[in-house]
Order: sequence, then C-alpha cells, then structure tokens
Amino acid sequence: MAEATTLHDAFIDELRDTYDAERQLTKALPKLAKAASSPDLRKAFESHLEETKVQIERLESVFQGLDEKVRGKHCDGIAGIIEEGSAILKEDFDDTTMDACLIAAGQRAEHYEIAAYGTLVAWARAMGHDDAAEKLQETLEEEKAADEKLSALAEGGINQGAADTAHPAAGSRNGASKTKNGKAGASRR
Ligand SMILES: [Fe+2]
Ligand SMILES: [Fe+2]
Repeated sequence: MAEATTLHDAFIDELRDTYDAERQLTKALPKLAKAASSPDLRKAFESHLEETKVQIERLESVFQGLDEKVRGKHCDGIAGIIEEGSAILKEDFDDTTMDACLIAAGQRAEHYEIAAYGTLVAWARAMGHDDAAEKLQETLEEEKAADEKLSALAEGGINQGAADTAHPAAGSRNGASKTKNGKAGASRR
C-alpha cells in the first residue's frame, strides 16, 4: 500500500509552488518597474526584485536543509495574478492612474505571497522545522514590508492624483481646490 500523504508532503508541495511563484515574479517585477512613472514606485519594484532574488536563494536553502531536491511546481495562482497585471499594462491610462493600477497589481501579488509564507511558517513551526521556519519568516517580513511600502506610495499621493484626474471638479480630498463654476459632478458618469 502506498504511504499516506502527510502535512510534510503538503509542506514540500507548497514550498515548490512558492518557489515557482517567486521565479515568475522575477520576470514580472521588471515589467511593473518599467511601466511606473513615479520614480519612488519604480524604485520600490526594483528593490523588491532584488529581494525576490534573495528569497529564491533562501527557498533553495530551505529545500537543502530538508534534504529535498530544489524543484518548482507551476503556481497557477500567481500566474493568474501576473496575467491580470499584464492586462493593466495594455490599458491607455494616464501616468498617475497607471501607477495606481500598478500598485493594485503589485499588492495582489504581495498578499498572495503573504498568505503562502504565513502558511509555510506555521507548518514549519508545527513540525519542528525551526531552521526552515526562521528563513521563511524572514521572507514573510519582507513581503509585508513590500506591501506596506506600496500602500504608503498609494496613499502618499498617487491615488489622490489619479482620483483628481477622474473627478477634476471634485478637487482634492486633502482639502485643496473647490469647483470654480459650481457644477461639481455635473459631468460625472
Ligand atoms: Fe517573494
Ligand atoms: Fe513579494
């Protein structure tokens, strides 16, 4: 009879999935960086690309520490998120709106990774794979920081800039201009 599949097997499977996801992201992040108009946003994508390369090496050392072959398994989840991001790149947005949408795409990927690493850390801890847990935790912290950085950029002006372009008559919600002709919203859809 075949041996029963255990949480350890599921853990290795999840590691392979995540390894593949990270490798897909090293191809997607440069495209997001290139499409960004805000220098800070471009830098954020570029520096997360460098982090991602280290995360791949970290996963390789997790496999090795568990005496497992370094191997990926196609991650459909991140592939879908990347595909949606690629669709955004084809849209005819103004620069700031594009930046807001790039942040949205980036954050979808980060949240996916936060979920994956959160599970991996919890499972590694539960099974006493402390070394693996520590390395995976380190990556988890980087993913959370990347997500927070994107939120800070969005809330630091990019979203408002895009919103003001969408609804110029409404003026800035941060207390700037009011409509000049009293027809606020008249032309809104
Ligand atoms: Fe990552
Ligand atoms: Fe990430």
